[in-house]
Amino acid sequence: MDVRDLIIAIRDGRTVPADAMRDVAGGIADGRVTDAQAGAFAMATLLKGLSTEARVALTEGMRDSGDVMRWDLPGPVLDKHSTGGIGDCVSLLLAPILAALGVFNPMISGRGLGHTGGTLDKLEAIPGLRTVVDETRLHEIVRQTGCAIVSATGNLAPADRRLYAIRDVTGTVESVDLITASILSKKLAAGLDALVLDVKVGTGAFMETPEDARVLARSLVSTANGAGCATSALITDMNEPLASAAGNAVEVAVCMDAFESPDPESRLVSVTLDLIADLLVLAGVYEHVDVARAAAFQVLQDGSAADRFGRMVSDLGGPRDFMESWRTHLPRSPVRVDVPSVADGRVQSINGRAIGNTVVRLGGGRLRDGDQIDPAVGLTELVPIGASVSAGDPVAVVHAANYDAAHLAVDAVQAAYRVGSEPVEQGALVLDRLRP
Ligand code: URA
Repeated sequence: MDVRDLIIAIRDGRTVPADAMRDVAGGIADGRVTDAQAGAFAMATLLKGLSTEARVALTEGMRDSGDVMRWDLPGPVLDKHSTGGIGDCVSLLLAPILAALGVFNPMISGRGLGHTGGTLDKLEAIPGLRTVVDETRLHEIVRQTGCAIVSATGNLAPADRRLYAIRDVTGTVESVDLITASILSKKLAAGLDALVLDVKVGTGAFMETPEDARVLARSLVSTANGAGCATSALITDMNEPLASAAGNAVEVAVCMDAFESPDPESRLVSVTLDLIADLLVLAGVYEHVDVARAAAFQVLQDGSAADRFGRMVSDLGGPRDFMESWRTHLPRSPVRVDVPSVADGRVQSINGRAIGNTVVRLGGGRLRDGDQIDPAVGLTELVPIGASVSAGDPVAVVHAANYDAAHLAVDAVQAAYRVGSEPVEQGALVLDRLRP
């Protein structure tokens, strides 16, 4: 089908052949589809939507537009993807836990996007560690250590790279069909046996309402399964930072604390274990979620997950003694300032997006593509929703490069925290589960 006819068919809400969707993805990657056509294709898709069949075909075409990894390993190849949030350092715990359980996790991750942090930026806060490795080295690390968190190699889903840039300037970023194809084309190119998705909802997430999160989760689950990868999704709360810190080195430090003394009640560890349990049952490694969850906690508690993390850090060029000496290795900002609560009462709500943007403005994220980030800055000791505070008590600590930046951050965090006298109901951490 000619790409013009395909665009017209989508525009008019007609059924489009799967082959034409696969072909348009190839054409976007190799230049047969012009920028104008790709923009029109994206806009027609945003306005009219795609059938599940068409979305699966587009995703497969985008996945196959570049290299697709093949593995020959003595265990399943599994992964997790999060739609992004604040203080979400789940990947740093999840990958080594999976490795310690004898499954394999090649995790191709991203950098910070908008107000949300990126796993690669967090990991690269470790001195010497670089997440850019070629495919041969990625295979070696995954075979030997069981997990590797790395950035995408040059030829992974090139159709997505071009279409994403075109969506960015044509007002079509929000299309759920295109978000789905974009996320999954990159994940599925890693050659996975099963995938679990953490679809975040709340003030710190891209999806602010449970309805929007469910629409995205359904689209992701139906598409990934349609493309042959067993996939489930948890919809999890992002109305407050997941960890007690937000930033890069400060989130690595939170994970190191979790390796040293894991608290199964903490929001971070709890969501990590829930995602792992769901994934292991989906992949057929365990029959029951409770047993899988207990096994995951066991390797966190007995130090074997920490051992895998240490090996991965050293495989990626970080210090060999990182696990013993992480406090001296992690960069620290020169200025630390408490954020005093402006009122007595309980923390009623936290504007997660404002917290994320505060970290970005401190230098922990990028305002423009290519900006250098400061790995040391961020927020720690973030007081959670429901906690009791008195006026003047700290609700967070700002880590900044200088006092001017610190004082701006103090104001922003105070504005993000609403403290009042009403009773606070603790919402569920896992709002919903979607299975294939
Ligand atoms: N992440 C992606 O990779 N693509 C999108 O479109 C949105 C989030």
